[in-house]
Amino acid sequence: MTRGTFFGIGVGPGDPEWITVKAVRVLSTCRHVCVPKSGETTDSVALQIAQGYLRPDAVLHEQSFPMTADPDLLRENWRQAAREVYEILCRGEDCCFLTLGDALLYSTYIYLLRELQAIDPAVQVVTVPGITAFSAAAALTNCPVGEGKQLVTIVPASDDFSQFTQALDRGGAVVLMKVGRRLEKVLDELEARGLLDQAVFVARAGLPGQRIETDVRQLRGLAEQAGYLSILIIQANRPLPGIKEDRP
Ligand SMILES: C[S@@+](CC[C@H](N)C(=O)[O-])C[C@H]1O[C@@H](n2cnc3c(N)ncnc32)[C@H](O)[C@@H]1O
Repeated sequence: MTRGTFFGIGVGPGDPEWITVKAVRVLSTCRHVCVPKSGETTDSVALQIAQGYLRPDAVLHEQSFPMTADPDLLRENWRQAAREVYEILCRGEDCCFLTLGDALLYSTYIYLLRELQAIDPAVQVVTVPGITAFSAAAALTNCPVGEGKQLVTIVPASDDFSQFTQALDRGGAVVLMKVGRRLEKVLDELEARGLLDQAVFVARAGLPGQRIETDVRQLRGLAEQAGYLSILIIQANRPLPGIKEDRP
């Protein structure tokens, strides 16, 4: 029997109209839909976005990916999810996996795909790209990401804060993802560098509770409310040595 195809679908970051025509077409034909959940009780944002495009007889496969730093637990969850997908494919049916934003930018899909390809390197895979959260944040604030020969750095706000400060040192546009409770520390750093007026903040882009802030000083004291779905774009405006600004 011919095995089914695995589709990784980037559904965009929030607004259901920020989804590609291709993603909608695949969702309208694929019966098995894997839905990532970051905890037993957390509703899947990707599912909320895709819901209106699913087949009426869609079979949802909820896959839990707890937010943990334990590598063994993480790997076991990815493996289990990959095995579930592979069983469906081996029955000759297609299966898709919903992912927030773009499928290959800081997404669980990356790990699941790796495990699936470890089970069967010949598995048929189609990845459908999606609008990233930073593209949506840029659009909502009319803040460019990358002008002329400007450097663009995408950094996840992690425990290693030096990744962020190094990105600011390099200059250009810095996209800071996974901001959440680190917001206050980030604002301190921007203030120390005189960059508060060159940053924009967006939380829950395209989703209920969306917040757009072009004066990031207003975010002081709100770190606990910023939430995981938040992003900053900073114009660190320091051209690299030897690279002349090229403005059309
Ligand atoms: C696991 S990453 C997923 C990134 C996603 N694959 C993309 O292409 O943007 C989660 C981070 O993406 C950003 N993000 C995703 N959706 C967002 C939204 N609707 N509004 C603001 N930020 C969002 C946040 O920085 C969040 O911490």
